[in-house]
Amino acid sequence: MGGIPGTRRRADPLFRREATLAFDPSEYGRRIPADVYDEAYAHLDPETAVNRLMALADGGPLCEFGIGTGRLALPLLERGLRVAGVEGSPEMVDRLRAKPGGNQVEVAVGDFAHTRAPGEFGLVLLAFNTIFALPDQAAQVACFRNAAAHLRPGGRFVIEAWVPDPGAFRAGGALRPIRVAPDAVLLEAAELHPAEQRMTTTKVRLTDDGVHLLPANHRYAWPAELDLMAQLAGMTRESRWADWTARPFTDDSREHITVYRRGAGA
Ligand SMILES: C[S@@+](CC[C@H](N)C(=O)[O-])C[C@H]1O[C@@H](n2cnc3c(N)ncnc32)[C@H](O)[C@@H]1O
Repeated sequence: MGGIPGTRRRADPLFRREATLAFDPSEYGRRIPADVYDEAYAHLDPETAVNRLMALADGGPLCEFGIGTGRLALPLLERGLRVAGVEGSPEMVDRLRAKPGGNQVEVAVGDFAHTRAPGEFGLVLLAFNTIFALPDQAAQVACFRNAAAHLRPGGRFVIEAWVPDPGAFRAGGALRPIRVAPDAVLLEAAELHPAEQRMTTTKVRLTDDGVHLLPANHRYAWPAELDLMAQLAGMTRESRWADWTARPFTDDSREHITVYRRGAGA
């Protein structure tokens, strides 16, 4: 599983704050079962993202960091793109493999801050806020460098992430509905630690079958900090949009899709 790229807070039963331990890239998948992950996000339609990525991939191949159970990778594969991935959770990879086409995706199991998937790629993708799963700035910079190392000159690194919004937190905490449907409700309880740019969240999925908790740690960063990380890795920003339809990114945007390109000498 590679070296020790950073530290995270020890898992206490609720907020995992006390001591520091080595970062473990398989933790996400151990805490959130892969089938629960798929059910929780089954309502998301990947079509718009897949259309945009097909255009940006320039023929591919594409490598997805944190490929998970293939929510985006499998539709991209179906559209004829060669797809590989890096993933920290063997459980997520098992679920990907069990799906149609899953065996055609070569996945390197390890930390995407350091683990190298074989080959040279036209696009590296880091979707769904997963850059923030890394525990600190140093690990995120290493991830940008690792993305650049996977790209051919001129290749693209595409990041999808939320824009930090500390104003949404009262007394350090926030609770918000993500999805309210007749058969399922998804809520997110969050606690902010601004001094370290960290947020701990537990999503709560409620259905007739019961309650599932989906906990995660985030080291968040504003878009400008991500741009600097790209510069350190020899990449420059090509585009920033508010969503996969390429709506302009504005003062009100709460998330962004950012496209970086690797320079010839990176
Ligand atoms: C939010 S899920 C996104 C999965 C998929 N990309 C999607 O869009 O549905 C994050 C994924 O990244 C993986 N992950 C988190 N941190 C990682 C790390 N440092 N190295 C490798 N994989 C990691 C998790 O196991 C999980 O599968």
